[in-house]
Amino acid sequence: MNFQLSEEHEMIRQAARDFAQQELLPGVIERDKHEKFPAEQIKAMGELGFMGMMVQPEYGGGGMDTISYVLAMEEISKIDASASVVMSVNNSLVCWGLEKFGTEEQKQKYLVPLASGQIIGAFCLSEPEAGSDATSQRTTAIDKGDHYLLNGTKNWITNGNSASVYLVMAQTDVEKKHRGINCLIVEKGMPGFIVGKKEDKMGIRGSDTHSLMFTDVKVPKENRLGEDGFGFTFAMKVLSGGRIGIASQALGIAAGAYELALKYSKERKAFGKTISEHQAIAFKLADMATRIEAARNLVLKAAWLKDQGQNFDKESAMAKLYASEVAMWVTVEAVQIHGGYGYVKEYHVERLMRDAKITQIYEGTSEIQRVVISRMLLSE
Ligand code: CAA
Repeated sequence: MNFQLSEEHEMIRQAARDFAQQELLPGVIERDKHEKFPAEQIKAMGELGFMGMMVQPEYGGGGMDTISYVLAMEEISKIDASASVVMSVNNSLVCWGLEKFGTEEQKQKYLVPLASGQIIGAFCLSEPEAGSDATSQRTTAIDKGDHYLLNGTKNWITNGNSASVYLVMAQTDVEKKHRGINCLIVEKGMPGFIVGKKEDKMGIRGSDTHSLMFTDVKVPKENRLGEDGFGFTFAMKVLSGGRIGIASQALGIAAGAYELALKYSKERKAFGKTISEHQAIAFKLADMATRIEAARNLVLKAAWLKDQGQNFDKESAMAKLYASEVAMWVTVEAVQIHGGYGYVKEYHVERLMRDAKITQIYEGTSEIQRVVISRMLLSE
């Protein structure tokens, strides 16, 4: 057992912290207010190596471990969860999926620009009638010999408009149910592919979430990821890793809100002393810090297991379940500690509270994480 981060890990954390403070903090309130995608900031994150952290350098990535990734995700998420969801989807759903399951040609063509931050990717599983029940795919990919004919609609797609490459799950053989689903690499601009309306969201308003429409889109056979019928297993495996990313995002949102509440409580005076000296507030801070530390340990354990090449499905679901519940609870308490100031945009905590909610929903709701965890416990 070693709870000490390496010098390299500390440096990565510091680099992410500095970047978040210097480049993401200015304008974060405005971007949230006007739903402005952080395009310049994401470009800079790509140049610094944050968009393909775990990809091997030969494919344009940073060649780092998952621990480094979650440390960076926590720091970026403390300041701007809209930027960190772009980072999470690109790193853990798109790049990791392509590196692990893509052909050499697919890696050269798509992974290299994605990992080096030249372009952004999207992961397209959810549909109007298939959210938690992800096997019920209505989008179809009919086998036409040298290509698939793609038809259907995807919903709530992160990076929906800003992406250039989309990993799209679609049903090829209905008889085979989830074993007849394929994952196709779709490029923006392929005829018949239309980016639909942008969602007007409660939180992570700087990120662009869209519906996507596919009408007779011809996708070459060489753009299928893995063997015929591998698409659903691909989505599940990739999401298991993705959940570590969202868990670290939730952790960052919680830690960011806690740091603001701690600072405020030491400055704000009431009844002749700082509010931190009132036990009502001091105990809140103690509970917030304890839960955040527990969430951090779950996140690091899941990341460590992944780095060791061990199964991490249960631990990533536990990390995501717990960290997202902590994020929601801590951000509500942070608003409470700020009182009236917490309810206005200038103090950041109300945004963090709105951003926290999505971490209990995307990449598998809290209820789905409990399904995953309990099934694994009962089969052990
Ligand atoms: N690894 C590999 N295979 C897996 C797996 C895993 N972790 N989990 C499940 N599978 C396989 C199963 O083995 C099974 O395959 P076989 O029958 O061939 O053995 C197949 O998947 C179906 O599994 P189940 O029978 O358990 O199916 P189910 O319908 O009862 O439950 C589920 C599946 C776990 C609920 C799944 O549908 C699920 O995870 N739903 C949530 C979907 C989700 O997370 N969506 C997020 C959208 S992406 C997103 O949010 C990104 C973003 O924008 C930020």
